[in-house]
Amino acid sequence: MVLFFVAGLLQNLASAQISVISERLAQGAVHRWEYGARAEALLELNAPTYSVVSFNVVLPPHSIPSNITSALGEVFTIAHNIVVARSLSNITGPQPLIADTSAGDPASIGVSVLLANWTGQGALDGLDYAGAAQDQLHYLFQNVSKTKDGAFSRRVDQLQLWSDCVYMVPPFLAYYGVLTQNQTILGEAYTQIRLYRKYLRDTAASNLWKHIQLGNAWATAGMIRSQQNDLAHWVHEIHGAMYSHINSNGLFYNYADNNTTFYDASSTVTSSTALAGTGTTVSGLLHFTPEGWLTPVVNPYSYGVQGSDSPEAQAFILELQAAWRDWVADGAHGTNSAREARPHVLMIGVILPVLHWLMIVIT
Ligand SMILES: *[C@@H]1O[C@H](CO)[C@@H](O)[C@H](O)[C@H]1NC(C)=O
Ligand SMILES: *[C@@H]1O[C@H](CO)[C@@H](O)[C@H](O)[C@H]1NC(C)=O
Ligand SMILES: *[C@@H]1O[C@H](CO)[C@@H](O)[C@H](O)[C@H]1NC(C)=O
Ligand SMILES: *[C@@H]1O[C@H](CO)[C@@H](O)[C@H](O)[C@H]1NC(C)=O
Ligand SMILES: *[C@@H]1O[C@H](CO)[C@@H](O)[C@H](O)[C@H]1NC(C)=O
Ligand SMILES: *[C@@H]1O[C@H](CO)[C@@H](O)[C@H](O)[C@H]1NC(C)=O
Ligand SMILES: *[C@@H]1O[C@H](CO)[C@@H](O)[C@H](O)[C@H]1NC(C)=O
Repeated sequence: MVLFFVAGLLQNLASAQISVISERLAQGAVHRWEYGARAEALLELNAPTYSVVSFNVVLPPHSIPSNITSALGEVFTIAHNIVVARSLSNITGPQPLIADTSAGDPASIGVSVLLANWTGQGALDGLDYAGAAQDQLHYLFQNVSKTKDGAFSRRVDQLQLWSDCVYMVPPFLAYYGVLTQNQTILGEAYTQIRLYRKYLRDTAASNLWKHIQLGNAWATAGMIRSQQNDLAHWVHEIHGAMYSHINSNGLFYNYADNNTTFYDASSTVTSSTALAGTGTTVSGLLHFTPEGWLTPVVNPYSYGVQGSDSPEAQAFILELQAAWRDWVADGAHGTNSAREARPHVLMIGVILPVLHWLMIVIT
């Protein structure tokens, strides 16, 4: 938003650019937490009817509309491969969707598994998607370490809270709670976010959340999915904390309040992307490599270190594009104020359906 503002121009990515960015994401997303991030980005971009951010009013249809059948195919492939691999382990009962020391990351794949169940994919390939999702849910509650008040640890065996868990776990709980009409599980999504805020918010750093790279962005991305007033307030709180640290080039440092760390463009993408809108490749875009990777970004495999390409950053771009599209379709409210207001003021004019893309800006 800020960058759009700086440019004085609001623009869309061309579909060919989206394709290239999606291809890089598909190519790069090969780690357990990246499957979930990719599936969620694909849903938001190509099948919003089924994304966590969309159906807070009505449940999505069991039978898939014909115009998104092929888009959902990629998401079902992720769910299928994960559930097949899981069945090879011969473990029964509570277990993660994919074996890992991280408690949160496997849960992020759960959204695609729940969706596969909901739309009857099991009848086509014989897999028990509902059982796989249920085992993952029970594993969170029964096997994962927790704080005394119930915040899930990021690690199964020891107590560690990482802010990216907010992106990984609550969306799964929210999706599960809504599809099975279980208020307890839905409420747990909110509770986890509340507890994570309690532990990670650093009032001494004007409400920036403590912890690791991408921390603030991941947290915001997860919060949006539950769309409640508190959550919106907490998202604004993070934005307020972040925006005092934006640099004149429109970028944030990897650690926003530490100017000896490198720039991370996952945020800036949004803007600049933007600006070369008429091209058919991403090569004309600022902050993209000719191959279509966002740059510079944090190394997703070694936080604190600058990296060359990040599947997560690619997913964020697609989520931004989806939100941008939805915002425009909804009448682009706040455009004028956006041009006149100071950056952190504009955030306030942005309505909930669009909030999820703001995480890009604050990555
Ligand atoms: C699919 O069709 C529905 C109803 O005609 C429409 O509202 C929706 O935007 C379409 N979705 C896509 C991704 O084209
Ligand atoms: C799972 O069980 C099958 C059949 O009993 C066996 O062949 C296979 O080695 C087992 N896999 C693992 C990972 O233990
Ligand atoms: C989860 O906890 C149950 C009960 O404590 C235990 O029997 C089971 O082996 C655990 N599952 C895994 C995958 O660790
Ligand atoms: C699986 O889908 C069916 C409807 O197709 C639904 O009734 C059930 O609650 C779902 N189970 C889970 C765990 O989502
Ligand atoms: C809702 O989920 C919780 C946690 O898994 C479970 O204990 C409870 O029985 C469920 N409620 C209903 C109505 O299914
Ligand atoms: C970096 O931040 C420190 C502490 O906030 C400040 O004193 C210093 O002037 C800053 N350096 C630059 C180059 O902005
Ligand atoms: C800022 O980052 C550098 C690494 O680039 C680190 O050595 C230093 O401790 C950080 N400063 C603070 C105040 O966290």
